[in-house]
Amino acid sequence: MTYHTPVLLHDCIQGLELKPNGVYVDVTFGGGGHSREILKHLGAQGKLLGFDQDPDAQANAFGDERFTLVRGNFRFLKNFLRMYGHQQVDGILGDLGVSSHQFDTAEKGFSLRFDAPLDMRMNPSGGKTAYALLMESSEAQLKEMFRNYGELPEAGRLARHLVNARADRKPDTTFKLMELIRPFMKRGQEHQFAARVFQSFRIAVNEEIEALKALLEQSVDVLRPGGRLVIISYHSLEDRLVKNFIRSGKFEGEPEKDLFGRTHLPFRAITRKPIRPTEAEQLENNRSRSAVLRIAERTEK
Ligand SMILES: C[S@@+](CC[C@H](N)C(=O)[O-])C[C@H]1O[C@@H](n2cnc3c(N)ncnc32)[C@H](O)[C@@H]1O
Repeated sequence: MTYHTPVLLHDCIQGLELKPNGVYVDVTFGGGGHSREILKHLGAQGKLLGFDQDPDAQANAFGDERFTLVRGNFRFLKNFLRMYGHQQVDGILGDLGVSSHQFDTAEKGFSLRFDAPLDMRMNPSGGKTAYALLMESSEAQLKEMFRNYGELPEAGRLARHLVNARADRKPDTTFKLMELIRPFMKRGQEHQFAARVFQSFRIAVNEEIEALKALLEQSVDVLRPGGRLVIISYHSLEDRLVKNFIRSGKFEGEPEKDLFGRTHLPFRAITRKPIRPTEAEQLENNRSRSAVLRIAERTEK
């Protein structure tokens, strides 16, 4: 089975404006689809660092001396780069979320298709599983999670239901969770509903929003002036953060002004409107359907 088919490959490569001797970071290495293409454009002095927090990605690392795979979370980008001797880089690529491999590996618990432990950690050696989160969170926390990460109108009722039932039913597998949420599924929309519930857990378990915010904030220090930030999001909450950060250097609100009323924006948007996969790509690769690509350039300091 293919590990992962890279999404919007051509646009990402173009967006990075690769310089043969530049230093680049692919913060979501996965199957290495984007990284492989980046390496093709680099010369002998060029460097590429790939990050992935899932140890399975290690199997896709290249035996190329210009390439280093960092097994770590991109929320610590700046520290890792320093560890590898790089203060600044020429481009950062982030293709957020999970890979097809992760969805297709039953025991990781990401997919509704398989009965498996309710885990959902991309990095299996750290953090709480989805089951622990479900058992230990308050009703208010679960409600917030379903509302923000799953955009579920019934977030409050669903949270109450789970809190009332969890002690007896102990939903420690994907199928047990499915059974528990079944009363909320409208006929014909069972899959969409369950997918949103699973997505909510996945985003919370992996602290995906916190990691993205940390990545964006650190990219300001890590990118050289003229360096490119290229991010593919798959969820409106992620895309909103990326869009706002590129526009204003903040996650919400207007750009900050100095004493003289001037604004110093860290980025210049290269894409006014986000790039989406063509219909042909969406047909060929179902998982590209919700992809939204934004590209920005680091301004002068
Ligand atoms: C959509 S896939 C990337 C696929 C890749 N672009 C390719 O072409 O094969 C996302 C990958 O990023 C990793 N990932 C997600 N969040 C991460 C984080 N905060 N730190 C490090 N890796 C992360 C996942 O483990 C997964 O392998």
